[in-house]
Formats: sequence, C-alpha cells, structure tokens
Amino acid sequence: MFKDQTVAVTGASGGIGRAIAEMFVANGAKVAICDLELPMETATEIGASAYGFDASNEAQVKSAITAIEEDFGPIDIYVSNAGVGSGNGPHVAGGSNESWELAWQVNVMASVYAARALMPSWIERGSGRFVITASAAGLLNQIGSASYSATKHAAVSFAESIQIEHAQHGIRAHCICPQYVRTNMTKGFDMAENSKDGFLEPSDVAEALKASIEADKFLVLSHPVVADYFAHRATKHDDYLAGMGKLRQKMAGETLPTSK
Ligand SMILES: NC(=O)c1ccc[n+]([C@@H]2O[C@H](COP(=O)([O-])OP(=O)(O)OC[C@H]3O[C@@H](n4cnc5c(N)ncnc54)[C@H](O)[C@@H]3O)[C@@H](O)[C@H]2O)c1
Repeated sequence: MFKDQTVAVTGASGGIGRAIAEMFVANGAKVAICDLELPMETATEIGASAYGFDASNEAQVKSAITAIEEDFGPIDIYVSNAGVGSGNGPHVAGGSNESWELAWQVNVMASVYAARALMPSWIERGSGRFVITASAAGLLNQIGSASYSATKHAAVSFAESIQIEHAQHGIRAHCICPQYVRTNMTKGFDMAENSKDGFLEPSDVAEALKASIEADKFLVLSHPVVADYFAHRATKHDDYLAGMGKLRQKMAGETLPTSK
C-alpha cells in the first residue's frame, strides 16, 4: 500500500517513531527519519534516510521538508511523532513555564509548522496524509502531568481540524492515541509498569497505524479499551473525573476516602 511513497517521521531515532518508520520501510516506502540529533545509526539499521532537526523550530522544519522532497520527491505521509512530557511538580500548576512552553512547542506547534509547509502543495495535488502521535492523554488525561494532557488534547484537536478542513481536498489525518508503550519515555515509570491495560511494544502501535490507514480511520487506538474510556468520559463526565481522581490517589499510594 505504501510502495514508493515518501514518508517522513519525526522523533524517530527510537521508540514509536522508529517502529513506525520500520513499518513503512517494510511496506516499500522511501522513509526519512528525523530527530534532534541526526539519527544515522537508526537509519542505517532500518533502511531509512536520516535528517537532524528540531521539530519545534519552524525554519528548521521548513528547510528539512524541502531537503526531503529534493531527495525523494513530494512527501505523501508526514508523521509528527516527536513528543515530550514532564511531571506537575508540587501541584497541578507546579511545572515551570519553560516546561509548559516546551510541551506546547513540541507536542503542538511542531505539527502546525509541518502542516503549514505541506498543505499548499497537498491541496494542489489533492492528496496527503498527516499523522499525529498524540496519546490516550489527549482523549482522557495523564495523571501527574497537566502540561502533557493539555498539549496532547490540543494535538488531537489539530489533527481533527486537518481532517475537517481538508478532507474535501483529498487530505487525510490520523491521530495515534496509545496508553503506555515500552520506550525511553516510559522507562522506570511505575505508573506505566503497573498499567492494568498492558504495556505495548512500539511495533504494536505501528501495526495499529497501518490498520487505521488501510481502514481510513482517524483514530489509531492501539489499546482498544481507550474507546470505551473515551465514551465513558463523554457520557458520564462527573463519574469519569471521580474515577480518575481515585486512580490518582491509588497511584500515589494514598488512602481512598470511604464513601458516604
Ligand atoms: N511511550 C508511551 O507510553 C506513549 C504513549 C502515548 C503517546 N506517546 C507519544 O509517542 C511519541 C513518541 O514517544 P516515545 O514513547 O517513542 O518516546 P521516545 O522518547 O523514545 O521518542 C520521542 C522522540 O522525540 C524526539 N524529540 C523530542 N523533542 C524533539 C524535537 N524538538 N525535535 C525532534 N525530535 C524531538 C526525542 O529525541 C525522541 O527520540 C511522543 O509524541 C509521545 O508523547 C508515547
């Protein structure tokens, strides 16, 4: 299905990005992998080409897209996968302004910058696929990280806007919303290790993306149970918030209040 297509994947030196790149290589695509540091070793290992740039720097994104298109032809699929997360600190607004700004730039604006560079030619060509790796935190919440939750919600919303505004131009968006996946981001993270819904491998997420593209489905739910939680949040919001609060207490090892 992806034979000879040009695919760019950001944040792909390891983890989910690398697995997505490997999936596209295995399916015949020409794949450009990008990360902050030139991901030469990964590129050599998986048969992709390496580009080093900061996905949250608009000028660098623009020139990297130009370079990839000069090397391989027009980009058919752009996977905006680079992401960052950090904890709340002492309370919900305890993270520094710098950590919130970094989350906003990498988790949201990186996709805006890439879309800004790609949309004019995609609209003209009448095709293009924009994939955003958001998170289940973008549909639900990440306990312990308000900045991650807020920016991943914005990432889901931007992906929806692409689909809503540009389906008429033949452009498609997909939004990847996993729970915990075994990568550098979750290394040593107790909450992930103890997750009751299971810890997936990055390749599971890549296969879920392939299936969603084939089925032309917007949401990529590698943990299918997320659809149930999302429906619960939409229909019983107060129950959902109370349940998340209890889960937070359990995670923190606090005693749950007795119900009255
Ligand atoms: N691991 C999980 O449980 C999980 C769950 C849901 C969503 N996600 C999302 O999946 C994506 C990939 O994360 P991962 O789990 O593979 O972790 P990871 O840490 O292995 O990968 C993230 C990559 O993004 C790169 N990156 C960070 N800032 C960048 C920037 N400004 N420019 C270019 N590259 C940058 C990092 O160098 C790293 O290689 C992220 O968006 C993350 O939020 C992860």
